Amino acid sequence: MVRSVIAGIGMYVPKNVFTNNDLTRFMDTSDEWIQERTGIKERRYADRTGETTTTMGVEAAAMAIERAGVTPQDIDFIIFATLSPDYYFPGCGVLVQRAMKMKEIGALDVRNQCSGFIYAISVADQFIRSGMYKNILVIGSEKHSFGLDFSTRGRNVSVIFGDGAGAVVLQPGADANRGILSTHLHSDGESAELLAMYNPGTHANHWMEQSLADFSEAEIGEMFMSHAMVDKAQNFPFMDGPSVFKKAVVKFPEVILEALNKNGYQPSDLRMLVPHQANLRIAQFVQQKLGLREDQVYNNIQRYGNTTAASVPLALCEAWQEGKIKEGDLVCLAAFGSGFTWASALLRW
Ligand code: UT7
Repeated sequence: MVRSVIAGIGMYVPKNVFTNNDLTRFMDTSDEWIQERTGIKERRYADRTGETTTTMGVEAAAMAIERAGVTPQDIDFIIFATLSPDYYFPGCGVLVQRAMKMKEIGALDVRNQCSGFIYAISVADQFIRSGMYKNILVIGSEKHSFGLDFSTRGRNVSVIFGDGAGAVVLQPGADANRGILSTHLHSDGESAELLAMYNPGTHANHWMEQSLADFSEAEIGEMFMSHAMVDKAQNFPFMDGPSVFKKAVVKFPEVILEALNKNGYQPSDLRMLVPHQANLRIAQFVQQKLGLREDQVYNNIQRYGNTTAASVPLALCEAWQEGKIKEGDLVCLAAFGSGFTWASALLRW
């Protein structure tokens, strides 16, 4: 039986550290509020012009590729998860292919926000097990700092997010007891607008209910991105934090137990749970709900904030680098976020 194994893992975080106190220069917030509600002490922000979501992804990918003992020319498929791409289109996958001088391989971008990395490795897992590809590069990377509302208006969102990237190389492994055991993907679009960035977008804005003939040329020219949208802050992420929190604390344990049950395990069998770093309070709630010890859950949100698609591979990479995950360990990855979408992956390291 072929299973997908993580042959190499890498990460990259920008050098620029932004503390909670640094944020008080722009908005009405405090270190106390941010730490109490989220656990975050500081986050990293990319260089505004020198670094992009792709360049950070490339840094993490180079590390993962080297650790896998292969070269960029050996990679036969790229999957890139992000909500903050360099361009509206094309996606970051092709930019990685170009930057790393890879062959003319396929490149797929995944738009599943916080659960994007787990969705991406689930897709990669199917390609590996079907025998279609042998070295798949999966990247999660975000440059949130380019597009956050740093005024008091956007403080409930802006204090949470940070920049960074993580990557893995997945390869087929012959040992049926090692690698990805199962992945579990879910969505509920009923709440799509509760955590979203509305514009620029092609959704029906209020004036679209009328005929195009009713509009002047200037108004039509502004439909994609207008001053009104900017005035309403619709070019920044919107989040109904308490609603997201309430749903997250239900769906996280549910999808983790789904993965464990599918494979005949209990929470106590886990060496490490690596949850999406949304909010330390959510991770602590999940830990308590599943009866896990502190050393069975890995958190680094305190240092990096919420890095969305990068958060799971960043945390997994650090946990492994710190020797907290070793060969043979049972590891669960889980995420919940915008969509809503949520997912888990159970693997034997
Ligand atoms: O990764 C994607 C998934 N995202 C999540 O899982 C996030 C889930 N939600 C959360 O983590 C929390 O809802 C937040 C951390 C975003 C907010 O915490 P909260 O305890 O739910 O606060 P709240 O939004 O209910 O706001 C409470 C108060 C409000 O003031 P009033 O109306 O009580 O006077 C806010 O205006 O806190 C205020 N507030 C702030 N105060 C200082 C909101 N943001 C800030 C801030 N600094 N940054």
